[in-house]
Amino acid sequence: MQTAIAQDASEQMHGASRALLRHGHARVRLDAGTADALREVFDAADDFFARQPGEKRRFERADILEGYRALGAEHSGPLDRPDLNETFSLVLRNMARKDIEPWAATNPLHRALRAAAPRYAALVDAILDGLRSSINPQGDRVASADFSYFQLNYYRPKNERRDFLQDVHEDGHLLTVVTSRQPGLEAQLGGRFEAVNFARDEVLVMPGSILTLMTGGRIRPLPHRVRNVRNVATRASLMYFANASVTRPPRAWVAAADGSLPDIGRANVEASKLFGLPSIEALAR
Ligand SMILES: [Fe+2]
Repeated sequence: MQTAIAQDASEQMHGASRALLRHGHARVRLDAGTADALREVFDAADDFFARQPGEKRRFERADILEGYRALGAEHSGPLDRPDLNETFSLVLRNMARKDIEPWAATNPLHRALRAAAPRYAALVDAILDGLRSSINPQGDRVASADFSYFQLNYYRPKNERRDFLQDVHEDGHLLTVVTSRQPGLEAQLGGRFEAVNFARDEVLVMPGSILTLMTGGRIRPLPHRVRNVRNVATRASLMYFANASVTRPPRAWVAAADGSLPDIGRANVEASKLFGLPSIEALAR
């Protein structure tokens, strides 16, 4: 029975890889354990973001991309139009750090993200491996867990006047696995922007610009934005940003049009600086 379940999961991930190749995005149903872990994250997020600013700032470690960031730290479009959300991040590589470990005892959101991390890493690595075996079976395996991170974005649409809480952009990662309990996400599907809404156990897998480099342009980044749906009081979305390793980057699976092999580790570092945050290189120290 166990084997049958494992086989189902692996077939499902291959389905996701095929969908990425064919349609440029994939919708995936989470297994029951991951869906439970996700529910805990969203429940803990509602509690955490309702806390006083000083309380939230106790969990701020911008230097290593970990924990809380107040509104205005990040921008998807121009510098003078910050994303209108607060954020809480967990970097998988930081889970081994002794100075972050105590957060698990005092911060249920951090604890819930920690519990979800290995599940998401396994899901993403299975999808990436499905892509590798379709595109270049001899290509490097991509272990995404090290430099990947969760980002929980928390919005208060009712308080905002802008039509878009996040302007249109492409993510500078291999893949982004996103879900939300509330409306607002729009993605460019079939040439026009469409609202993307989710079942409680469902995620959308969106390619980022680094996957385009890995695949010699075969898979394009998926442009997306967040609309202000004004009757929504609070909106939480959870992203898992899958990054290539910076210390041991994979070789691109397919060469670029000019025959060159892009430096995936360097490209991931440069892309990480585009939205106002510290470089993911900081995590390698
Ligand atoms: Fe994004």
